[in-house]
Amino acid sequence: MNININNELLKSGFVQEKIPENINLVEEITRLKREKNAILLAHYYQKPEIQDIADFIGDSLELSRQAAKTDAAVIVFCGVHFMAETAKILSPDKVVLLPAMDAGCPLADTITGDDVKSLKRQHHGSPVVCYINSSAEVKAESDVCCTSSNAIKVVASLPDRKVIFVPDANLGNYVAKQLPDKELILWQGRCVTHAKVKPNDILQMREKYSEAKILAHPECEPAVVELADFVGSTSEIIRYAENSDAQVFIIGTEVGVLCNLRVSRPEKHFFLLHPGLVCPNMKKTGLQSIYEALVNNQYQIHVAEEVAEKAQHAITRMLKVV
Ligand code: 13P
Repeated sequence: MNININNELLKSGFVQEKIPENINLVEEITRLKREKNAILLAHYYQKPEIQDIADFIGDSLELSRQAAKTDAAVIVFCGVHFMAETAKILSPDKVVLLPAMDAGCPLADTITGDDVKSLKRQHHGSPVVCYINSSAEVKAESDVCCTSSNAIKVVASLPDRKVIFVPDANLGNYVAKQLPDKELILWQGRCVTHAKVKPNDILQMREKYSEAKILAHPECEPAVVELADFVGSTSEIIRYAENSDAQVFIIGTEVGVLCNLRVSRPEKHFFLLHPGLVCPNMKKTGLQSIYEALVNNQYQIHVAEEVAEKAQHAITRMLKVV
């Protein structure tokens, strides 16, 4: 990818990976992938050089679909821990590798399986919808999973009026607004990266780029979502910007989406809604760590069988809704 997002990354304090000079990592990764029958899945928030070599790039929903249907023996998941864990739950017989062992998700870490059990006790009989940004234990305690692109459809598919929604309160609020007949019990978790965006950022951007369309992820706070021209998952934001007649877009999600759009629509203009829209965990994966993952089979994701079985139920139920 010749398009550069270094300005945005540097502004956020991002430090560029040091690549050894004596080895062509891209060639080595390609060779190892062939040798091991491995597939490389990458989220849109990954660095450009990783999106470049990925076999498949997508949002959380598309990546879980891909993980469920691949016939590769090894899945190298360029994303964060809950994504690789979801792939393992859907493909328990495959080796799933997370190249950056410590690539976690602070939002997923806000809630445990025990917290979900206690919510269920408190709101006896109400079903639990868990955002895919959650641990296997949380999924195992939930009735159905959702992603940002299908959360409304998943909640609407439940016959119950009252629904427990965990862990993202901003996404939950967005869903509740679209489904006024439902009562959502929300866990107060938030994505620290998306939570940096404030309504004033939108107002300032509108003043500077009056012709621009402002596109926001539903993990942004309700007042921000309210002011945006379009709200959607990473893939939905990309599709909207690609197909719209507008020429200028303000991107209200992680910077990786910006890099993708600058490649697919070089004639259009894309700006980041807030300079802090860089997910530090998504940026932990580098070419070197992917190479090491393939050489050393690291870091393998394991999920206890009884947890995986219950979690799989919640994920496959979601995959049937959409
Ligand atoms: P998507 O559903 O858009 O992939 O959201 C992923 C995510 O974790 C946003 O922070």
